[in-house]
Amino acid sequence: MTIIRAKDYAQMSWHAAKLIAAQVVLKPNCVLGLATGSSPVGAYQELVKSYRMGALDFSGVKTVNLDEYVGLDAGHEQSYARFMRENLFDHVNIDPGNTNIPNGMNPDEAAECARYDKLIADFGGIDLQLLGLGPNGHIGFNEPDDAFPTGTHKVALTDATIQANKRFFASEADVPRFAYTMGIRDIMQAAHVVMVVSGEGKAGIVKDAFFGPVTPRIPASILQLHAHFTLVADEAALSKL
Ligand code: GLP
Repeated sequence: MTIIRAKDYAQMSWHAAKLIAAQVVLKPNCVLGLATGSSPVGAYQELVKSYRMGALDFSGVKTVNLDEYVGLDAGHEQSYARFMRENLFDHVNIDPGNTNIPNGMNPDEAAECARYDKLIADFGGIDLQLLGLGPNGHIGFNEPDDAFPTGTHKVALTDATIQANKRFFASEADVPRFAYTMGIRDIMQAAHVVMVVSGEGKAGIVKDAFFGPVTPRIPASILQLHAHFTLVADEAALSKL
């Protein structure tokens, strides 16, 4: 595990964007695993800046997003499909046909999960997977459990996650109760995993996840075993180490 210690959110975003940009420059047809949430937004803004300056070309890049809420269509204000368009895809020259997100409207859970895992396998895996960190240690929507889930699956969101994500919805009742998410195997098989974490509120879970035992009760802890894992965090998020 490599830790990049950033001063603040802006510097964290700059470092993460540099790692992603380097991946795109070195392998223009790379597969990027992408994440939602407030943590990666700044990194996406940096990537858009680099694209506008002519330093990045996304025309050959393929993307697979970590997760999507079950029951939200791609046009829904809070769908992760829309988040990705608004924060990145609409602002760079990526081919929308090369962008992939689980289909939250597919009622056939087995078919949707199998489709997504096959898609990742057919791409030959993920070159760089970007992650945020849930307040309970979740990655994607892999929630604390008795075992590490492997492939793409449908997950019941925990109360902690519903509470954390209700700020984006009109009310708590509007937060979807289920999501499709890539599994831990999909994430662990990525050649390089980059996590962005910011703020004092995440300091406790950063310490528990990366300086405590590896346990499915803290899904992110498994990244301690990844051969190429880079944690990009600001000083506040690292303040309990
Ligand atoms: C959501 C997403 C995660 C994300 C997490 C943290 O639950 N499914 O992928 O990492 O939120 O979000 P934030 O970065 O806003 O703290």
